[in-house]
Amino acid sequence: MYKPSNHIMVIFGASGDLTRRKLIPALAELQKLQLLPDKFAVLGVGRSAFDTNTFREMVSKDLEDPDEIAQLLYYRSMDTHSEEDFSGLALRLEELSSELNIDRSYLFYLATPPSLYETIPRLLSGVGLTRESEGIFRRIIIEKPFGLDYVSASELNRSLLSHLEEHQVYRIDHYLGKETVQNLLVTRFSNGIFEPLWNRNYIHHVEITSAETLGVGTRGGYYDNSGALRDMLQNHLLQLVGLVAMEPPTVISSDAIRNEVLKVFQSFRPITGKEIPRQVIRGQYVASRVQGEEMKGYRSEKGVPEESRTETFVAMKFFIDNWRWGDVPFYIRTGKRLPTRVTEIVVHFKPSPHRLFCDHRGGTVGGNKLVIRIQPDEGILLKFGMKVQGAGFKVQDANLDFYYKDLTDSYIPEAYQRLLLDSMQGDSTLFTRGDAVEAAWRFVDPVLAAWQDDKSIPLLGYPCGTWGPEEADQMFEDEGFTWRYPCKNLAGDGLYCEL
Ligand code: BG6
Repeated sequence: MYKPSNHIMVIFGASGDLTRRKLIPALAELQKLQLLPDKFAVLGVGRSAFDTNTFREMVSKDLEDPDEIAQLLYYRSMDTHSEEDFSGLALRLEELSSELNIDRSYLFYLATPPSLYETIPRLLSGVGLTRESEGIFRRIIIEKPFGLDYVSASELNRSLLSHLEEHQVYRIDHYLGKETVQNLLVTRFSNGIFEPLWNRNYIHHVEITSAETLGVGTRGGYYDNSGALRDMLQNHLLQLVGLVAMEPPTVISSDAIRNEVLKVFQSFRPITGKEIPRQVIRGQYVASRVQGEEMKGYRSEKGVPEESRTETFVAMKFFIDNWRWGDVPFYIRTGKRLPTRVTEIVVHFKPSPHRLFCDHRGGTVGGNKLVIRIQPDEGILLKFGMKVQGAGFKVQDANLDFYYKDLTDSYIPEAYQRLLLDSMQGDSTLFTRGDAVEAAWRFVDPVLAAWQDDKSIPLLGYPCGTWGPEEADQMFEDEGFTWRYPCKNLAGDGLYCEL
């Protein structure tokens, strides 16, 4: 692993939560691993009037070893709407670069509210801070959400690309920074045994779940304008689908990989009209008692209106219309306040064509399953039939189970650590490209529009600690199939309702 070239990182929204919880710890870890450039500094920028010392103390106090990273941090208070303040920022960067003898390469991180994603790049460009030259890079990292729908995302793309080139824009989807998500490419394309089976001839359906036990916590204000479909499905879950469904890239390069992901997104069969209520189920958690503990309903969370119709759960069934996946259903779901925290991909293979053994207990009677566990308990599990010892031919399910933690002693790095390092090195493979973001919005837009306009589409209440509305179980086409439940409902009976 080589070190990135010298530069200054500028964090907009430096006094916010993301900086303290994710960015500074990730930088501290990179520093510990000696992966930061030899000459490097971070300039935090925000509205609050701190001095550098207060900023250093504020963002690094929770770290185990705060001093090392703290000395690389600087702060500047500015108004992110003022052209004049951007001229001041350019001067300050010039000054820091000379003082610390760092090249004039800058990496701008927009950890701000999305309303500033258009303004900041425009004003940076206005003072020449986005202009690259020989040996000097200028890049912008943009947090999600990237737009609220297709129109706003494409407008944002257009505005960004009027000030920057696509290669300078790094759109974050932190799921792509997860080690186990990247391993999807390695599992599929470095092993000869999976790829021949990875298609409609051998796969019955694919299931992807991303479940959380937490509610919306203090983020009610943001979440209520977003909902599960925008917050998780349009980005994180569809990225996982992209990696599971893509064709092998010709080479491992940013463009080759992202071209293949885009083709998957462009092949999604649109879900429209009457299919929407059948293929997309939405739910919202309601107050309930889970293992003796009273849990609030979503509508009682801070910042959430009492009558909110925002979904905290979504399950979707859809198809990818191409030669590999024609007519293979994909089932994806995500939700808050579910019984456990898990993200996993389950590839359900078709059963053997001729059933020789009738005495079969367990799941493989429906076909083998490959479970790719993204988090926690990162690993891979293959379920297959084995003979029960003794007379006759009784078959039972057995697990071939691999845990990442058994592979090496090293821990699995945090997504932000990998993503920050890649953006410093100029590798955009694990960042979403503008065209793919737009294609993903184009796919979910009709659903968002129908939910808003058609009041007959139900919003289903589900008790905290359950796997969402019972209707989500009825989405499966073939009898005998349902979601995989990594654990049981913790609460529930009788609390399901239409909201
Ligand atoms: C974020 C969403 O992008 O991802 C959150 O905004 C969600 O609502 C989070 O909780 C989940 O990330 P992870 O890495 O914990 O699965």
